[in-house]
Amino acid sequence: MKLFSSVNDVTDINALVKEALALKQNPFEHQQLGKNKTLALVFLNPSLRTRMSTQKAALNLGMNVMVLNIDKEGWALELRDGVIMDGTTVEHIREAAGVMGQYADIIGVRSFPGLRNREEDYSEMIFNKFVEFCKVPVVSLESATRHPLQSLADLVTIEELKKTARPKVVLTWAPHIKPLPQAVPNSFSEWMCKADVDFTIVQPKGYELCADFTQGAKISYDQDEALAGADFIYVKNWSAYEPYGNILGKNEEWMLTNEKLKATNDARVMHCLPVRRNLELSDEILDGPNAIVVHEAGNRVWAAQAVLKQMLEAL
Ligand code: CP
Repeated sequence: MKLFSSVNDVTDINALVKEALALKQNPFEHQQLGKNKTLALVFLNPSLRTRMSTQKAALNLGMNVMVLNIDKEGWALELRDGVIMDGTTVEHIREAAGVMGQYADIIGVRSFPGLRNREEDYSEMIFNKFVEFCKVPVVSLESATRHPLQSLADLVTIEELKKTARPKVVLTWAPHIKPLPQAVPNSFSEWMCKADVDFTIVQPKGYELCADFTQGAKISYDQDEALAGADFIYVKNWSAYEPYGNILGKNEEWMLTNEKLKATNDARVMHCLPVRRNLELSDEILDGPNAIVVHEAGNRVWAAQAVLKQMLEAL
């Protein structure tokens, strides 16, 4: 694998999930694979899980790891071509990414959307410029429209904990005070649509995701109806795709509670984290027996390790 930016870069998602679960059983089996290879993790935005789990995954494979919080520690990046750089930007992405490619065998990049210009965000301008100019394999650590390492970990978690061959998985919108990206729900939907699950997205009217990511999903606007019989509930807020980046109302009644869980098949509750307690998800859910959010975050290591292993094998 030379690029991991979406589910479309994966030849066989079932094999990748199996690989992740095998690595969980035997994390250090492939220590020689990464010997003398370097992973550079470049963050334009904050991270806890992605940073630590991907670093741990690389160390398990015997790699060296360098982390650069480029938004705080690097020179201010220019992204536009053909401009006179007489303003606040100091270094062009052409040189910055090219230089990083001299130091690393694989590069991971995190770059959130601005949520102001939909065309620009959905063109994945920043991520694609890194891919173009660094000239080494690139793994997405969450881009403007997708978070594939998170989605792979989510699928690994469902595969690991499912009690029926084809579980019912429901992605439900949840309230938030800030407009959040669509990357996690887009990506989760895209992966679930390719997995062997019965998949529903439920949201208030107006929060429909871009149809490119939801082909094959059932779409609902009735949370009680959608949750009935669910085996897994994936809770996440996202801002509107149209009008882009907007919050359309408080919709506080959409927060998941124990009362709502009663109609499910004792559903496991997932969230990518970080989560705002008692806004997106109640204390009673997060501290109760159905929440698997920490276990899910633990699986980020094995997802990242499976992807890095395939990248190392292709070097
Ligand atoms: N879920 C996730 O990507 O967490 P971080 O933003 O902390 O990396």
